[in-house]
Amino acid sequence: MKQDMILVLDLGSARNTAVARAVRALGVYSEIYPHDLTAGELKKLENVKGMILCGGPNDVIDGEKISASDAVYDSGLPILSIAHDRAKRGEKLGALPEKDGEIAEMLRGFVFDTCGAGANWNMKNFIADQIELVRRQVGDRKVLLALSGGVDSSVVAALLLRAIGDRLTCVHVNHGLLRKGEAEQVVEVFQNQLGANLVYVDASERFLTKLAGVSDPEQKRKIIGAEFIRVFEEEAKKLEGIDFLAQGTIYPDIAESGTKTAKMVKSHHNVGGLPEDLKFELVEPLRQLFKDEVRACGTELGLPDSMVYRQPFPGPGLGVRCLGAITKERLEAVRESDAILREEFAKAGLDRKVWQYFTVVPDFRSVGMRDNARCFEYPVILRAVNTVDAMTAEIVEIDWPVLQAVTRRILQEVKNVNRVCYDLSPKPTATIEWE
Ligand code: XMP
Repeated sequence: MKQDMILVLDLGSARNTAVARAVRALGVYSEIYPHDLTAGELKKLENVKGMILCGGPNDVIDGEKISASDAVYDSGLPILSIAHDRAKRGEKLGALPEKDGEIAEMLRGFVFDTCGAGANWNMKNFIADQIELVRRQVGDRKVLLALSGGVDSSVVAALLLRAIGDRLTCVHVNHGLLRKGEAEQVVEVFQNQLGANLVYVDASERFLTKLAGVSDPEQKRKIIGAEFIRVFEEEAKKLEGIDFLAQGTIYPDIAESGTKTAKMVKSHHNVGGLPEDLKFELVEPLRQLFKDEVRACGTELGLPDSMVYRQPFPGPGLGVRCLGAITKERLEAVRESDAILREEFAKAGLDRKVWQYFTVVPDFRSVGMRDNARCFEYPVILRAVNTVDAMTAEIVEIDWPVLQAVTRRILQEVKNVNRVCYDLSPKPTATIEWE
C-alpha cells in the first residue's frame, strides 16, 4: 500500500466528514468508520497511523452514551478524541474549531508528529492502492458493474478495467428513467471507444409497470433499487461465474442513507435500497471519496473531460424528478424539458460552471391559456445548484435572458406544460433532488 491512513471514527459528530476532509487537506488519506469498528475490521486496514474519535451531540444510542470499541483502544495506535467530554483511556483530547477551514491546522501536530503519517495521499497512489485491493478481493473471479453512465459508475468502470480487464462485465440497464440520448451515449463511449465488455438491457417497461401508481418517494427509490439488482442478477446468471457486483457508491451516499449515529436523509438506490437477498459481494472502490475527488480520480485515469465533468445524475434517474406516481405523459415532459435546459445551458457556457441543473415536473396542474382557450396543464420547475461535495448546495443566479430562452422553448416544445418556475431553495433546507 502506498498511502498512510488516519481513521476517523464516528462517535456521533455531525462533522466527521469535515474532519476526514481536513486530514486529506494535510495530504494524508483518511477513512470514516462507525464507532464500533471491530478488531477484525481494523486488522484488514493497512498503514493505519492513528485514529480520531469524533464525538458530538448524537453520541447517545437507545439512551446509552456510546464510546469506541475496546478494539480501538487495544490497537496501540495514537488516538485523538475531539468534541468528546472525557478521555476514556489516556487518549489525547482536542477541541474542534468552529470553522471547518481551521480543523486541518488543529490536526497537523497529531497527524504528523504524534502519528508520524506521511503526506502521501494523491490520486495516483489512491488508484494504485484501490487496484491492489480490488485484485486481492476479486482474485481471478469475475465482476459485474452497474454502469449508469454517470460520473461515479464511469470512474469505477475505468478503475476496474485497469485492475481486472476483461473479467469486468459492464451492464447498462435502461430503466426508462434516463435522460434523452443517454443510453445511446453509454454504448458509444464504453463499448465502441473504451472496448469494455458491455451488456445493454432495455428494461423500461418492466420498471414503469412496477412503479405504476406508487407515489411515496422512499418507496419509489426502493422499488427502483430492488428492480435494478434483480435485473443484474438475471444478467449475472446468463454470464456464469459472476461473484461480485461493483457500484459507484461514494461517501455522501453512505452518510445520507443514515450511519449508526446520523439520521437518514434519504435512502440512496445503491445503499439503503438494496434488497436483503442480495446474492453478490460488493466492490465499491470509491466509497470513501467525495464527489470532487471522484472527478479528480477520473481525470487521473484518463477519462475525457466530457465524462468526468458530466453533471451527476441520481441512480433512480428521472423517476425522482417526475414527482409522485410516475406517468408516461409527465415523464416525457421531464425528459424533454431537461434536454432543452441542457442545450440552452451549453449554449450559454453554463454547463461547466453550474454543478447540477435539471427540471422537475410535479403531479399537480394549474390553469393557463393556450390558443385563446383555458388549459389545465403541468408546471416545469427549473433547478440549478452549485456545491463542492453535494452535502450542502447553493442556488445559482442564472442570467435572465437564459431563463427566458429556456422558458420560451419549454412552453413551445414540451407537451402538457403551461408554466415554468425557478426553485430558489438552498440545501439545507431543501435537498438537491425533490424526492
Ligand atoms: P440530494 O438530493 O440528496 O442529492 O441533495 C445530492 C446529490 O446526489 C444525487 N443523488 C443520488 N445519486 N443515487 C445516486 O447515485 C441516488 O439515489 C441519488 N439521489 C440523489 C443528486 O442528484 C445530487 O447530485
